[in-house]
Amino acid sequence: MSIVFDDSRKIFRLLTLNSEYQIKIDDIGLLIHNYYGRPACDTDMTYQIISVDRGFSGNLFENRVDRGRSIDVLPQEYSGCGVGDYRISSVGIVAKNGSHSCDLRYKSHRIYEGKEEIEGLPSVRKYDDDVTSLVITLEDKVVGLEVELHYSVFEDKDVITRHTKFINVSDKKIHLEKAASAMLDVQYGCWDEIHFAGRHCMERVMSRNKLTQDIKVISSKRGMSSHHENPFVILCDHGATEAYGECYGMMLMYSGNHKIEIEQDQAGSTRIVAGINEENFSWCLEAAESFDTPEAIMAYTKDGLESLSHIYHNIIRRNVCDRKYMDVKRPILINNWEATYFDFTSEKIIDIAKDASELGIEMLVLDDGWFGKRDDDNSGLGDWFVNEKKLDGGLKRLSDEIEKLGMKFGLWFEPEMVNEDSNLYREHPDWALVDPDRHPTMARNQLVLDMSNKKVEDYLFNCISKILDENNISYIKWDFNRSLSNVYSKNLPNKKQGEVSHRFVLGTYSLLERLLSAYPNLMIEGCSGGGGRFDAGMLYYCPQIWCSDDTDAIERLEIQEGTSFGYPVSAVGSHVSASPNHQTGRSTPLSTRGVVAMAGTFGYELDITKMSAEEKAEIKEQIASYNKYYWLIQKGDYYRLYNEEYAEIYKAWEFVATDKSEALVNIVVKKVQANARIKVIKLRGLEENAMYNLEGTKTTLSGAALMYGGFAINISYGDYPSAQLHFVRV
Ligand code: GLA
Repeated sequence: MSIVFDDSRKIFRLLTLNSEYQIKIDDIGLLIHNYYGRPACDTDMTYQIISVDRGFSGNLFENRVDRGRSIDVLPQEYSGCGVGDYRISSVGIVAKNGSHSCDLRYKSHRIYEGKEEIEGLPSVRKYDDDVTSLVITLEDKVVGLEVELHYSVFEDKDVITRHTKFINVSDKKIHLEKAASAMLDVQYGCWDEIHFAGRHCMERVMSRNKLTQDIKVISSKRGMSSHHENPFVILCDHGATEAYGECYGMMLMYSGNHKIEIEQDQAGSTRIVAGINEENFSWCLEAAESFDTPEAIMAYTKDGLESLSHIYHNIIRRNVCDRKYMDVKRPILINNWEATYFDFTSEKIIDIAKDASELGIEMLVLDDGWFGKRDDDNSGLGDWFVNEKKLDGGLKRLSDEIEKLGMKFGLWFEPEMVNEDSNLYREHPDWALVDPDRHPTMARNQLVLDMSNKKVEDYLFNCISKILDENNISYIKWDFNRSLSNVYSKNLPNKKQGEVSHRFVLGTYSLLERLLSAYPNLMIEGCSGGGGRFDAGMLYYCPQIWCSDDTDAIERLEIQEGTSFGYPVSAVGSHVSASPNHQTGRSTPLSTRGVVAMAGTFGYELDITKMSAEEKAEIKEQIASYNKYYWLIQKGDYYRLYNEEYAEIYKAWEFVATDKSEALVNIVVKKVQANARIKVIKLRGLEENAMYNLEGTKTTLSGAALMYGGFAINISYGDYPSAQLHFVRV
């Protein structure tokens, strides 16, 4: 049993293999966050909470004579608002009488085996894992609000999931103005926060900052999780390294407007609050109605950043993504986008497919431009009907030809969008999100469809289903190429406009769910101008997401490394593209482009018909290597091989089989220097006493030597050289 309630001490202990999470009900019914850290051996951790009378930190009425007990400094499980905790609130409400106060006290709890799903939202899947769940109900009797805190413990995965349900138990309306998924108070310590910021074409770059008494906000109000701030943060010991130090992870399983706030307070305690971004959000709860927040995935380790990454990789591969992809090999694909952009014909695509199939590429993906009036990005979105002028014989002929080559066929869609210049917009202008009486803000000359409107969802379901029914399509690339603005639904009354952003996300999830239920063998790759919607919510439906529109192998080193802190390589869409690269103009060798793309789902995105015989031969070898290492890359443990020189001069990473029988080390030199230093790479994750042979050589070294002495390598000549070293246990 991984959740224990000790009635005499009034503590809940949530136990995973390597962590303990403790909650206490105090004498006035406050829910105190006692502890999250290494297992505390059945100790009530309340002794750590020392009451100090702090000026200007008030006391709840029951504690008015005990001035040390202020909710402004007590570590809490889920704070209310407006009653004396001046740190970040978890909740915001407006009660019928206009009051903004909410004072939450323990009402009841239940513990059960298993895990309930959250209606309408993706959540971490239980499968056949041992999962125990806890629901603690808090109440504010004055307002008539119940707040259920839901926890599920994935014991052997060292993960605790959380979400919150708000229930209006009064007979009056309550407005929710903020509804956090999770809050975590960490009482002591000297912490750094790590988040993953960026921009289009440079997503999820790791940013590490020491906390001071301040509030740090990681958020998006773009209607999507965004290129700019990923919904994942790490709190780590100031001295933590890849292999050492305490780390907490907080990841939101949500693809819309998010906010993660981190506050260090006057007493040096740290609070993290994560959930839907409350800006432009409000939810009207009528009597008896309830509201569920998205789920948060929390993890703790004492063993540094790589260990925290392994926890997230494991849970995402096995319990967020559809687990079947752990055992189904995904096809190596070729995508025509950077080969042709909008300028293609059936013949051109078939030529690409023919050359690709001869080299061992398994799927052709036809990107943007196959439908409606779509010769550039100004028109056509919404008209999901094949453009026969461009594709002679339609998709049927094309998909049949591709099938004849023994390849699979994939197709690009951008379902949630519409161009003004489209039949769909001309027929249904009210289906787009636009502010009445105002010109809409345009981006890529397109508007966003109102996914909160069931009719829109049905239209898209029917269009996409028709294409899937009539053609042989096994993959969809699901794109999303602008941020939301003018978020106003003509389908909802004025008082519900604050709900539209979240209802939009619910509509998208619902459409994805319906399609995957109707077509269980369909694989959907997520995309949003590259990695603008790279989050655990989308990964629930899409086992892989196009990581970035920047396909430059050297830029990808930063992007893929930042992504690796929270997300597994199996989720990272990565392709070999042309050189010079289309985004940066940089030239890199084909071999280096191959090494970088192999830290992902692997594929090609270039005009293969224009490549020389030598290049084609090299591609064939790359494909053979990727197939050889496929399971090691997809299922193995991923390590960032960090050393001092690393950031500036080179990057190295390693895949180690879970049984430690083999390891693949990858190194790419970013900055070539004359008379350079020897690069010594210290491997990780091997068996100390086992001997490992460097494949293709007579070099055999112990795991201990490779890990603690390291492997010296001298590559520093030419443009961006790289190497792949395969060590096999003998
Ligand atoms: C986005 C995607 C690209 C490509 C284009 C097509 O930018 O990230 O890969 O599909 O759209 O318009």
